[in-house]
Amino acid sequence: MIKRIRSDQLLPGMYIHDLNCGWMDHPFAFNSFKVNDEKIIAKIIATGIRELYIDSQKGLDVDDAQTHDEFHADMHQQITTLAEKHEIKTLPPTQLKEEVVQARVVHSEAHNVVHHLMSDIRMGKQIELAKLSPVVENITDSIFRNKDAFISLSRIKQKDEYTFQHSVSVCALLVAFSRAMGYEKNVVMEAGIGGLLHDAGKMKVPDYILNKPGPLTDAEFLEMKSHAALGRELLEQIPGMPETAIMITGQHHERYDGTGYPGKIQKDGISQFGQLAAIADVYDALTSDRVYHKGMEPTAALKKLFEWGKFHFNAELVEHFICLIGIYPVGTLVKLESGVLAVVVNPGNESLLRPTVRTVFDIKQELYVTPQEIDLAKKLDSIVQYESPRNWGIDPFKYL
Ligand SMILES: [Fe+2]
Repeated sequence: MIKRIRSDQLLPGMYIHDLNCGWMDHPFAFNSFKVNDEKIIAKIIATGIRELYIDSQKGLDVDDAQTHDEFHADMHQQITTLAEKHEIKTLPPTQLKEEVVQARVVHSEAHNVVHHLMSDIRMGKQIELAKLSPVVENITDSIFRNKDAFISLSRIKQKDEYTFQHSVSVCALLVAFSRAMGYEKNVVMEAGIGGLLHDAGKMKVPDYILNKPGPLTDAEFLEMKSHAALGRELLEQIPGMPETAIMITGQHHERYDGTGYPGKIQKDGISQFGQLAAIADVYDALTSDRVYHKGMEPTAALKKLFEWGKFHFNAELVEHFICLIGIYPVGTLVKLESGVLAVVVNPGNESLLRPTVRTVFDIKQELYVTPQEIDLAKKLDSIVQYESPRNWGIDPFKYL
């Protein structure tokens, strides 16, 4: 049986089913393994892992621990309650369909700029703020018109371009997040610059570590972690670089419980932008395909953030983020009560649990259907669960 325990309950002889630390480039060879000695337990705790999953059939048990299924039923209930109490206040001024066309142009422009910027940093050239600002302004304008267009597009990534595409995604998420937190446009744009540059320090980390397909050695892990402080130093040298962007770059790996790096800063010792950046960074990392793991579906990633909110993030900000992105974000493939697969095309005017969807495939009849838009707020159908597009061979982005 899979059980969830605190890492200080670990004993040699237990079998770890899931380290529960998908947010980082961790220094462990596997995510599942038998615990042979106290040394590995100390390493797990030092990494900042607070809770993890064990398999009681493959090793020692902890009697009173919650099972994986009990925990997930509980989490599902908490997220549903959160979604039900969240009121949707403002509707976007532009329809998703219209904005997707513009967002595609802005996205590819942003990708090119970041690509050049990162190569410049690698070659030791200074960052030119004047080249970045127009791109961030375009992203901000797109998000102000309809946040879901750019955010859903930035989920599409090519594996070998991860750092560039991740930078663009984190920029978009931070723009949307800081706007939702009520900041003025000029501050929102400063957060966007921070998003684009948050991993700039990685350009000072050797390529073989950055793209290593296997686990990092302890020394390599340390070098990888140095990117946050290196990035901060890089940004501090740029005339006119906003403090917001410097905070985001230097603090995006700090964790609310003080288990992060480089400063091991705790709680509100981390600036609010550092706290927002940590959430946006982890969400994008979890939903992206990496050399060593397949990306999670957004709904699953949001549940992970909610789970980790207890220790690693500011739980209140995680709730804001979940409500911003939606329980079933635009582009999510879902199974409806009627047995039809559909893609979420609008977050819904009334409830995060009842978005507007476009039908794709009838499961019982095994037939593609003529796409039809259904507003689930009218309660003619409802979502049973999210589905993996990979498992069904469906590209949801074709249906936006
Ligand atoms: Fe980072």
